[in-house]
Amino acid sequence: MAAMISRRYLSSTTRLAASVKGAPEMPGCDFKPVAYKGLNMEETVKLRKSHLFPSTQSYAYYKKPLMIHQGHMQWLWDHAGKRYLDMFAGIVTVSVGHCHPKVLAAAEGQLKKLWHTTSIYMYPGLQEYVEKLTSKMPGNLKNVYLVNSGSEANDLAMLLARLHSGCYDIIGLRSAYHGTSPNLLGLTALSTWHYNLPVGFGIHHTMNPDPYRGIWGGKYCRDSPVQTTRNCDCQSDKACEAGNQYIAQLEDVLRFCCPKGRIGGMFAESIQGVGGTIQFPKTFLQRAFKIIRDHGGVCISDEVQTGFGRTGEHYWGFEAHGVVPDIVTMAKGIGNGYPMAAVVTTPEIAKSLAAASHFNTFGGGPLACAIGSAVLDVIDEEGLQQNCAKVGTHFLEGLAKLQENYEIIGDVRGKGLMVGVEMVKDRKSKTPLPAADMAEIWETTKDLGVLIGKGGYYGNVFRIKPPMCITKEDVDFTLDVFKTALDRYSGKR
Ligand SMILES: Cc1ncc(COP(=O)(O)O)c(C=O)c1O
Repeated sequence: MAAMISRRYLSSTTRLAASVKGAPEMPGCDFKPVAYKGLNMEETVKLRKSHLFPSTQSYAYYKKPLMIHQGHMQWLWDHAGKRYLDMFAGIVTVSVGHCHPKVLAAAEGQLKKLWHTTSIYMYPGLQEYVEKLTSKMPGNLKNVYLVNSGSEANDLAMLLARLHSGCYDIIGLRSAYHGTSPNLLGLTALSTWHYNLPVGFGIHHTMNPDPYRGIWGGKYCRDSPVQTTRNCDCQSDKACEAGNQYIAQLEDVLRFCCPKGRIGGMFAESIQGVGGTIQFPKTFLQRAFKIIRDHGGVCISDEVQTGFGRTGEHYWGFEAHGVVPDIVTMAKGIGNGYPMAAVVTTPEIAKSLAAASHFNTFGGGPLACAIGSAVLDVIDEEGLQQNCAKVGTHFLEGLAKLQENYEIIGDVRGKGLMVGVEMVKDRKSKTPLPAADMAEIWETTKDLGVLIGKGGYYGNVFRIKPPMCITKEDVDFTLDVFKTALDRYSGKR
């Protein structure tokens, strides 16, 4: 299928001349963007500074800022016509490709018919879409509430958990990111996102089961083609000592912080995204969910980043943990860049919301449903989940080879096209690579034509989560670019 994608969207004969000396050669692309005729960079920067919240300035964070003008599949063009390989997908959001022709056609078709009505009326697109979406869910996860963002989805999931369980207390994992609504700031457990304000009443965080940087972890912990370089006494992944220790921490949180024998629910990403592509010991989530249920709680999987085939082996990240959650939240890739999100749960839990009115003006609008439906079709028709498995594994193996020669690559991890590279001063101390050094490597990567993300508590993890249509050729190019950026940083070139 990757070959099909490659033939359809790329031409191996069209090559972009390398504009930087010693730069790896970018794979070809036949698509011609329109010429940019808008505001120049200086005016744009000035307007951004004078009219947007200062808090948004840090997002335009390249030293030489990037002004994106057009996108097509895995490619982006800046205002000057320079092409980039988008290996971050607008923060894991452009799932099937920028302006994907089928999704574009669905959006255009719907735009000409009906933009908006509300869910108080019947319109077929909504029913058709939720039936299609729930056909992808295991168990009795059959009821859908459509909203507009991941934060809204998690807010609703928390409300549902509290209503259904009759208990206010919620457990989350340290290093998790679940959104920035006032309610969710307390669940998001990264102090970089916190103000000196009271948030998170009733929310408790257990130790993050991070096999690389956590207290416990070893060489069998992860469900990934690449393991940590840490040693452990476990003989195999069957009896994971690190997993046992992290579960004991969870039991302690329940014992000491929650009303006796009770919990409202627990949130977990299947692989932590903003936290730095952190994967848990294989059995952790399964055991944690059982404990939560034994205490009357509801188990919530945040699939905002890991859903829709991105992890390759499975359609949903939680499947790799061998669990069926009670509530699943999804956003980002669900709409390929169109703002939409969903909460999916069982009919029994969904009933908890019926005691009072609950309404969302835009959630599940006709445009969202048309787009969401086309995205689901494209993932299947183009074998994108399978592509994530194949291309992602190739990528992770390539990064692991690179790690052998670069002491500053502390850890390579992930699954499918959800990839993290943790950068350190040296592997023994694991001291995070300083922000200025990260920025230097990152800027060079961009100048060489590849866009990647950064994250993790220390900002020292390169996060690589491209549109799921990328090819092996794109991965090889990214590996070449990353190697060149590392060599330039360490003065080898
Ligand atoms: C795992 C996860 N959950 C929730 C959210 C919040 O989504 P949104 O920014 O759409 O509110 C994010 C956003 O990055 C996320 O990564």
